[in-house]
Amino acid sequence: MRRIRLGPAGIRCAFGVAVSAYALVGVFSITGHAGQARPVAAGVYSAAQATRGKALFTDQCAACHGEMMEGVVGPPLTGNDFLKDFAGMSALDLVDKIVATMPQQAPGTLTRPQATDLAAYILQVGQFPAGQELTAAALPMVMFPGTKAAPAATNAGGLPVVVVANLRQYMIGVTFPNANIIFNTQLKDPGEDKGKPPVPFDYVLWGSTAYHGWQQIDHAAMALQETTALFLVPGRKCQNGRPVPINKPDFVQFTHDLQDFAREVQKVALTRDVEKVSALSEKLNDVCANCHKVYRDAAPPGVAASSSLEGGITTDRCRQ
Ligand code: HEC
Ligand code: HEC
Repeated sequence: MRRIRLGPAGIRCAFGVAVSAYALVGVFSITGHAGQARPVAAGVYSAAQATRGKALFTDQCAACHGEMMEGVVGPPLTGNDFLKDFAGMSALDLVDKIVATMPQQAPGTLTRPQATDLAAYILQVGQFPAGQELTAAALPMVMFPGTKAAPAATNAGGLPVVVVANLRQYMIGVTFPNANIIFNTQLKDPGEDKGKPPVPFDYVLWGSTAYHGWQQIDHAAMALQETTALFLVPGRKCQNGRPVPINKPDFVQFTHDLQDFAREVQKVALTRDVEKVSALSEKLNDVCANCHKVYRDAAPPGVAASSSLEGGITTDRCRQ
């Protein structure tokens, strides 16, 4: 593989690649969806597929989703809640979801034909009739009833506020990186950070050297203030498939506390006094932990509490 050269030319080039890759995806998805859409109720899978799917399901899925798909640790895979999640989506979306993320403790271990068999069994349990074989080519045409849920809100210009991540993914993608920038003041004085470009080149490290020092702390504190409110967007789920407990007053309070605290960090960061900001960042940790103690790390009755960051069966997340 060719090494990426440092400097703007290399960066433009990489953006160019990203843009053309996107264009290609567009072309493929148009051809992929060509053809006649068919409802899941139209006899879209074979009985043999469902039988194979049942064996896999019993072996690999039932522990979390229940023998009858009624939901245990994982959500139900039949009934209204399930159909609502897949409303307006295709059998391909279901197969992709299974292949990429299930079984939850070992994603990526199923083949596409196996995931298709599982999808067939899910349709059978959902009382959609069997019929012809569900082929790879048919997957994008087979549609679940209904339309996708409307976005929670729209901005100026009608731009939807989309909810894509579950709360865990949101924390890891948005909250955690910004908080870590602030926590880092315990180890490094931002005033000493001269922003040396990384060798070998690395986009993530380069980004943090391009806008380095105290500005980085300012940006992280602002980002936390703006993005924390999105914990409470209706429609977001926890990793265990339960809705984020946005109706619980203490959860809402913990969210407010983080937003307020980030404002305080922004204010104190303007003193450019590393001792002060470092002390505050230790308290920031408490603001996160106050909520985690109740809603992330607590275990339901009868299950041992765990705050493990490793995968495994996540009965202890977003407990309500
Ligand atoms: C360790 C527990 C666990 C196992 C085992 C497991 N799942 Fe899941 N599954 C979950 C959880 C938790 C969710 C909700 C979070 C998510 O959507 O990723 C979920 C979500 C799903 C969804 C999306 C449901 C929806 O309404 O959006 C499908 C489909 C699914 N699982 C299928 C499977 C299949 C098929 C298997 C077996 C190959 C399997 N799961 C094994 C825990 C598990
Ligand atoms: C209002 C409550 C709340 C606050 C405040 C909060 N979190 Fe979370 N956090 C959660 C919950 C609940 C989960 C589990 C989400 C799930 O299972 O989908 C979580 C999960 C996480 C995870 C993923 C851990 C894992 O492996 O499952 C990280 C990382 C994280 N939070 C970091 C932070 C940091 C850093 C802060 C403070 C800057 C913070 N959180 C503030 C509620 C909160």
